Amino acid sequence: MASMSRRRQIYEGKAKVLFEGPEPGTLVQYFKDDAAAQQKRGTITGKGVLNNRISEYLMTKLNELGVQTHFVRRLNMREQLVREVEIIPLQVVVRNVAAGSLATRLGIAEGTQLPRSIVEYYYKSEPLHDPMVSEEHITAFGWASTQDLDDMMAMALRVNDFLSGLFLGVGIRLVDFKLEFGRLWNNDEMRIIIADEISPDSCRLWDIKTNDKMDKDRFREDLGQVEEAYQEVARRLGILPEGGPADLKGPKTMQ
Ligand code: C5P
Repeated sequence: MASMSRRRQIYEGKAKVLFEGPEPGTLVQYFKDDAAAQQKRGTITGKGVLNNRISEYLMTKLNELGVQTHFVRRLNMREQLVREVEIIPLQVVVRNVAAGSLATRLGIAEGTQLPRSIVEYYYKSEPLHDPMVSEEHITAFGWASTQDLDDMMAMALRVNDFLSGLFLGVGIRLVDFKLEFGRLWNNDEMRIIIADEISPDSCRLWDIKTNDKMDKDRFREDLGQVEEAYQEVARRLGILPEGGPADLKGPKTMQ
């Protein structure tokens, strides 16, 4: 990773690294193959390449739709140029079908269609394991204002409508997903935009016919064929890197 060391590292998370970008107000987002879920750690070969490409594809579509994201352009197999934002310390989850923590917390069978889409907020804190919080906590502790929450909720629901349709078109049910948001300042004006990534790491995606899981739950639940599932998502979206799976192990960074 010789080329990575020349840039100043801003942040390292479980699945991604952020570096100082080539111009002010930008960052380089590098996608690793590492995966983590609670105590579980592992590597999914080719995941970084696929998530870089899938997130590029989905965020480009959202930008075109007028739902602004931090994505600027893809730089190479594992890196993309993004706008630097002030991250709001919340995870905004939208759910269409009961699964994961909602199914467990409320005792609803996984796969149950929800009466309507449900939006939830979690406070981003690793030591606290991202606890669920309400609007009351968020506004009282100053993580976001009521106006910010209205903006995030409206954007999250638009993303849900758009992505649900897009995935349905390729035979995939969007069960739920997580978004992160950041503040973008332009002089004294602030706008909230979508940050982080949108990929099979942050969405639950089920095959419409078989209900097969095509997302990170394959890793969380030790179902195997994780890499193949991510590849299949990219293939259905029509964006599997040229040369197919062989390309996925390509160079870690290219300048
Ligand atoms: O675990 P839970 O059911 O609350 O997850 C809801 C959605 O949010 C899932 O799609 C999951 O992949 C995503 N998520 C995430 N990062 C987290 C927690 C959940 O991307 N730290």
